[in-house]
Amino acid sequence: MINNVYDDEVPKVVTIKETIIETPTVKTFVFPFEITDDIHPGQFVMVWDFSNEKPMTLSIIDRENNLMGVTVRKAGPFTENMYENIEAGDKIGIRGPYGHGYELGKYKKVLAVGGGSGIASLAPLLSFYDNVELISAASTKDELVFVERFANDGIKVHECTDDGTCGFEGFSTQLAEEMLKTGDYDIIVGCGPEIMSYKLLKLSEKYDIDCQLALDRYMKCGLGICGQCCIDDTGYRVCVEGPVFDKKQLEQLSEFGKYRRDASGSIVKY
Ligand code: FES
Repeated sequence: MINNVYDDEVPKVVTIKETIIETPTVKTFVFPFEITDDIHPGQFVMVWDFSNEKPMTLSIIDRENNLMGVTVRKAGPFTENMYENIEAGDKIGIRGPYGHGYELGKYKKVLAVGGGSGIASLAPLLSFYDNVELISAASTKDELVFVERFANDGIKVHECTDDGTCGFEGFSTQLAEEMLKTGDYDIIVGCGPEIMSYKLLKLSEKYDIDCQLALDRYMKCGLGICGQCCIDDTGYRVCVEGPVFDKKQLEQLSEFGKYRRDASGSIVKY
């Protein structure tokens, strides 16, 4: 029998234990998965609906109960199908987890900024580290994600909405700057729209602290083979060297905050 080096990359079929409607456009899927010590916040899995496959960040990493979760926002046929049609008891395929997550062990005080469904990447940090303060931002109150989860866990987050319907009125980067002026944070971490992430990098430069940001690029293999997710002009693969990059890496990315590539490899400007 010939062993293929990618045998381990065959999707594991799991049965969804629970689904949670987070907002009118965002839904979480919880499923059993053995949480080994090498699984960290910021990593992602490839989710297969038996028709197509997409990368999704880990929004739940529950070591105690061996549960994992992903959180999707309706943004196209794949995620619309998941939101509308996939429920507890249904099966999905999972490959991974893959990629490089957040590394916060050496920091004393972390400011984490999540925009929209980007909060999914950051929420698991709260169960791994006790030095994280979290900004959760959305356009309006109804689109804030994990409100109930944070309340159930007794976690105070700094809410922020563009229209002022909940918490700070304005952009997450404005609130982040207010907090940076008075807090003694030694790193900013973030995940969300790239324009937000780019501003967070600039804030980390202004306040001379470290930074780790999760980037989002179109992925195909998720394994570092196809080259689809390479970033100009370092060639870093978001699926291997990322999705979380540190400040030194981010400052080398000429396309960061300016453009990305679609499925065909064509440039799409921000
Ligand atoms: S998705 Fe194929 S190299 Fe990253």
